[in-house]
Amino acid sequence: MRPLQGCRRQCIVLGIVTLCLAAGWALQTQGGVSLLVPQPNINATVAQNILLSVEYSCKGIVSIEWKHVSSWGTNKIVEWKPGSYTNISKSYKDRVNTYENGSIQLLNVGVRDAGYYVVTITEELGTNVYGTIVLSVYEIIYEDLHFVAVFFAFLTAVSAVLVCCMWFCNKSVHLFQNKRDKLKARTAEEIELQTIEC
Ligand SMILES: *[C@@H]1O[C@H](CO)[C@@H](O)[C@H](O)[C@H]1NC(C)=O
Ligand SMILES: *[C@@H]1O[C@H](CO)[C@@H](O)[C@H](O)[C@H]1NC(C)=O
Ligand SMILES: *[C@@H]1O[C@H](CO)[C@@H](O)[C@H](O)[C@H]1NC(C)=O
Repeated sequence: MRPLQGCRRQCIVLGIVTLCLAAGWALQTQGGVSLLVPQPNINATVAQNILLSVEYSCKGIVSIEWKHVSSWGTNKIVEWKPGSYTNISKSYKDRVNTYENGSIQLLNVGVRDAGYYVVTITEELGTNVYGTIVLSVYEIIYEDLHFVAVFFAFLTAVSAVLVCCMWFCNKSVHLFQNKRDKLKARTAEEIELQTIEC
C-alpha cells in the first residue's frame, strides 16, 4: 500500500509541475511578441528599391513603427496597425510600402537614406520588441564614368572648335598677306610705269 501511495503523490507533483509549465508557456506565447530580422545589413545603390524585411509573430493586435536614424537625425517613417490605419510621414509619402509581416519597402533610395532603420513592434499590453537594419547606399560607378565621358566629349569639342578657328585665322592671314603683296606689287609696277613714262 505504501509504495503505491508514494507513487501517487509523485504523480500528482509531476502533474502540477507540468500544468504550471504549460500555463507559463501559454501565457508567454499569448503575451509575447517576437521578431525575426533575417538580413540586418543591406547594401544598395542609388535609385534602388529595397525591402527592409522582418517578420513578427504575435497573437494579439500590434502596432508597427519604423524609424530612420542617421547623422542627420531621427525620422519617423511610418506607423501602422494591421487592418486599422497606416500613418506615413510626409517626407516618405509615395516612397514606402508596408507589408503584413511588418516589413517595409523603400523606393528610390538616395545616399541620405543610409543609416539605421529601427522597427518597433508594440503589442496591445504594452510589451514591445525592437529590430535594427543597417542600410549602406553606394553611388553608382557608371554615373561617375558617364560624367567623365561627357567632360571629355566637351573638351574634345572645344579643342576641335579652337583648331578650326586657328586654321581659319591662319587662312585669312595668308589671304590678307597675299592680297597685300599683290597690291604692293601692283603699286610698285605702277610707280615703275610712271617713272618710265616720265
Ligand atoms: C556590404 O558591403 C560590405 C563592405 O562593402 C561587406 O562587408 C558586406 O558583406 C556587404 N553586405 C552584404 C549583405 O552584401
Ligand atoms: C515579408 O513579406 C514580404 C512581402 O510579402 C516578403 O518579400 C518578405 O520576404 C517577408 N519577410 C520575411 C522575413 O519573411
Ligand atoms: C499620424 O501622424 C500625425 C503626425 O505625426 C499625427 O498627428 C496623427 O495623430 C497620426 N495619426 C494616427 C492615426 O496615429
